Amino acid sequence: MSNLQAQVTSTDRAFHVEGYEKIEYDLIYVDGVFAVDNTELADSYRPYGRALMVIDETVLSLYGDAIRTYFDHHGLDLTVVPVQIRETAKSLETFETIVGEFDAFGLVRTEPVLVVGGGLTTDVAGYACASYRRNTPYIRIPTTLIGLIDASVSIKVAVNYGKHKNRLGAYHASQKVLLDFSFLATLPEDQVRNGMAELIKISVVGNSEIFDMLDEHGPDLLRTRFGHLDGSAELRAVGDRLTYAAIATMLDLEAPNLHEIDLDRVIAFGHTWSPTLELTPPAPFFHGHAINIDMALSTTLAEQRGHLTVADRDRVLGVMSRLGLALDSEFLTAELLADATGSILKTRDGLLRAAIPDPIGSCRFLNDVTTDELADALQMHKKLVEEFDRAGDGVDMFTGAHD
Ligand SMILES: NC(=O)c1ccc[n+]([C@@H]2O[C@H](COP(=O)([O-])OP(=O)(O)OC[C@H]3O[C@@H](n4cnc5c(N)ncnc54)[C@H](O)[C@@H]3O)[C@@H](O)[C@H]2O)c1
Ligand SMILES: [Zn+2]
Repeated sequence: MSNLQAQVTSTDRAFHVEGYEKIEYDLIYVDGVFAVDNTELADSYRPYGRALMVIDETVLSLYGDAIRTYFDHHGLDLTVVPVQIRETAKSLETFETIVGEFDAFGLVRTEPVLVVGGGLTTDVAGYACASYRRNTPYIRIPTTLIGLIDASVSIKVAVNYGKHKNRLGAYHASQKVLLDFSFLATLPEDQVRNGMAELIKISVVGNSEIFDMLDEHGPDLLRTRFGHLDGSAELRAVGDRLTYAAIATMLDLEAPNLHEIDLDRVIAFGHTWSPTLELTPPAPFFHGHAINIDMALSTTLAEQRGHLTVADRDRVLGVMSRLGLALDSEFLTAELLADATGSILKTRDGLLRAAIPDPIGSCRFLNDVTTDELADALQMHKKLVEEFDRAGDGVDMFTGAHD
């Protein structure tokens, strides 16, 4: 799949090797990926006559019959490895269990593993594929909004280590991603809201048209799962356009920088202080609420700095709030912000690189935010959010099931 071509130069006392690894992958829309008439998936496995599928247990319980019917119909042997991975089990142990299944199956070197589920399943199984024989191909079928518009668009895979999210991982593109948004029909509302925070992210700093769509249709898209659950054809069309634009924008921004060598990343908006905030409450925040609180504060900061008008600031906060996303939290304190700044500086090579909107749809990076300025912005932010629904609290903010 990927080939490394390198050139060697040498002197008497040294060799220098320089090469580039080709990265190539496809994201392909399929409406009803397990409908027997859609051969996209079967075509990928026909050469092997069989498939090893790592799948989220909940997704298996909902779609297992359709999946078995599909593989039967196409005369392909299916081996199913159900996994139930919570954030706390996004671990090396789970990774090892999956690797054990590869061995038991007797995976042939070029045979792609099929991975079906949300970001947790695809991250852990993807990392197992990255490591297995140093490089095993895989095909992803994301089944959550986060998976569809974010995790499976990127080439990053990982497990957590100790208290650190995604501390061990790899850049390992899947051969193919099959995008089937009809999975959203069964996704619980709190999970859809969680994914919508990433759409707010990409829109506020990367694409004002997406922002306008979220402004106009956000709550309806949430309620109807982007038109896949009792939604009108019109809403479904809006959802399709919006998610397509989000994927396109993310690829535009990230494809030139797949290995994240440039650390000024637009799509890191909301991911500056939230990594520390997310795991602070006794039961962690949903990722979407944690990044939203970070984005909301960054939006207030952008207005303070003169990069957003007051009206635009309130528009951004309004769109977030109407989706039920948190604007603030008692866990967001000046001390936490100082700690989180220290932590992100290490990840970002000594510079803050805080993405903020300038204006909506465009991005600017701030490196000179002092602890005092942050504390002031926070104070102002806490006053502001009082005017919004739930006084800035989010709906279903915590992942209660995890701890
Ligand atoms: N690799 C990346 O670039 C990247 C990007 C974003 C997020 N992530 C990672 O993704 C993880 C979060 O992923 P997620 O939000 O998809 O969570 P998840 O994989 O835990 O799925 C959320 C829940 O929804 C259930 N579910 C999945 N699909 C369903 C469906 N169609 N119908 C009903 N229920 C369904 C799952 O069983 C689970 O309980 C985090 O660990 C995060 O670090 C990675
Ligand atoms: Zn994120």
